Amino acid sequence: MAMPLVNVIRGERIEPAPFNVRTPYLKVPLWLVLFVWLGKGLLRLTVVLVRHWVVTGPLLGLAALYVRFDWYGPVVLVLVLSAVAGSWWQLDRATFLRFGFYPLLGRWRRWRYRRQWLPSMVTAGLGVSFNGHTVIPEIKRVRSSGTADVLTVRMVTGQIPDDFAKVSERLTHTFGARACRVSAGSRPDLIVVTLLRGDPLAETVAPFPVPPVPDFRALELARREDGDVYALRLFGTQVLVVGATDAGKGSVIWSLLRALAAGIRSGLVQVWAFDPKGGMELASGMPLFARFACEDFRAMADMLEEAVATMRERTARLRGRTRQHTPSVGDPLIVIVIDELAALTAYLTDRQLKDRIKAALGVLLTQGRAVGVHVVACLQDPRKEVLPFRDLFPTRIGLRLTEEAHVDLTLGEGARDRGALCDRIPRSAPGVAYVVLDGDPTPMRVRFSYLTDDDITDLAYDYARLRPVDRGGAAA
Ligand SMILES: Nc1ncnc2c1ncn2[C@@H]1O[C@H](COP(=O)(O)OP(=O)(O)OP(=O)(O)O)[C@@H](O)[C@H]1O
Ligand SMILES: [Mg+2]
Repeated sequence: MAMPLVNVIRGERIEPAPFNVRTPYLKVPLWLVLFVWLGKGLLRLTVVLVRHWVVTGPLLGLAALYVRFDWYGPVVLVLVLSAVAGSWWQLDRATFLRFGFYPLLGRWRRWRYRRQWLPSMVTAGLGVSFNGHTVIPEIKRVRSSGTADVLTVRMVTGQIPDDFAKVSERLTHTFGARACRVSAGSRPDLIVVTLLRGDPLAETVAPFPVPPVPDFRALELARREDGDVYALRLFGTQVLVVGATDAGKGSVIWSLLRALAAGIRSGLVQVWAFDPKGGMELASGMPLFARFACEDFRAMADMLEEAVATMRERTARLRGRTRQHTPSVGDPLIVIVIDELAALTAYLTDRQLKDRIKAALGVLLTQGRAVGVHVVACLQDPRKEVLPFRDLFPTRIGLRLTEEAHVDLTLGEGARDRGALCDRIPRSAPGVAYVVLDGDPTPMRVRFSYLTDDDITDLAYDYARLRPVDRGGAAA
């Protein structure tokens, strides 16, 4: 006996295709056939009218007005509605979009998705055969905004969000979107599929205002794809920025320095800058740095060892008193910024210097964060031969990368499958990157703010650090 489907499997049940059976031959008068057809047609029409009441309701209303008042009725109504919508749009665009336009757009898009849903789910491999029936996920809700459609979908029993994440690229092309992101829903059986249409990151992002006191738990560096601001938590972490040449690593560093600028001026933050590519990137920010080295690798090794010594001194002082250092003017947060890390760890020919640098970096990366010594390093090539310390950086930022395989090396196993398409970022979009947000397995696409040369000169001038007591350094 066939098992009843209800309560056994969750999902939208698709009726099997009808099959042809030879029916017995009956003689029926023509008038009866026409009568039955007419009845069926009327019934179907009623069902369609009721089901699509959003469209049919207003149309019937307009028709009724026409019957009652001739052309004046519908024309006056349309004019009045247009005037109300126009004034609402003029007076308060945000509420007009949120409560007026977007809900309507959502309904329209929902209708479009429902029409394509069955073949899309089956061809993407998300349809399930059960007990001789096809069962597919159900669209529960569609919300639209100017740039994205957010679909709340109920999965078929046995499916997990990763099943959708794996076919997100298929869904992108099927629904003609620019990108598709999958994330967990509010209940275990729901997921949220976000189909992105426009690109809020197409334009260069202007620098953010400098906060009067930097919040080390949320430094605003980039614009997120969903319109929010991406804030980096620097406390308790080390940051690795990976990107091919011209991917925009410089804009990550400058966005960070800008967010820290007020702290640099007040002495709450000290930036030690390493620019092994001859100072091309960072030299213009010299007044912001407590230490700066650009050509002399021996000076760089000395600086790193000095950082280790500072770190050890702090550790000894704070031991038993606190587990997390709090920055103060007397005991500032030290941010070690390295523009091309591989120049120090891989491409340096002097073996002895290289070993000194590696040893110091290893210690800083493993023990520095609790005592307020942070490393922010940029790198072009994330392979292990180039950077043996990759795994010691808890926070990673993946800009444009040249190879697919580099994505998982940078952002972690499975990141590319979950949507971090760093290798597909076009050359024409420097500063665009994928980051992994706290507690969300789906990587977020962001674009870092871009500081022009003039912005950098102004920043260095406005926020040059105060040096009441300058004890010098490699090249302070
Ligand atoms: N966030 C951004 N928004 C817009 N344009 C950017 C952004 N970042 C960088 N650019 C542009 O891209 C160019 C290359 O950027 P950048 O020098 O930062 O790359 P890079 O990753 O440091 O490259 P390299 O490894 O060669 O140093 C810049 O000259 C700038 O014009
Ligand atoms: Mg650079």
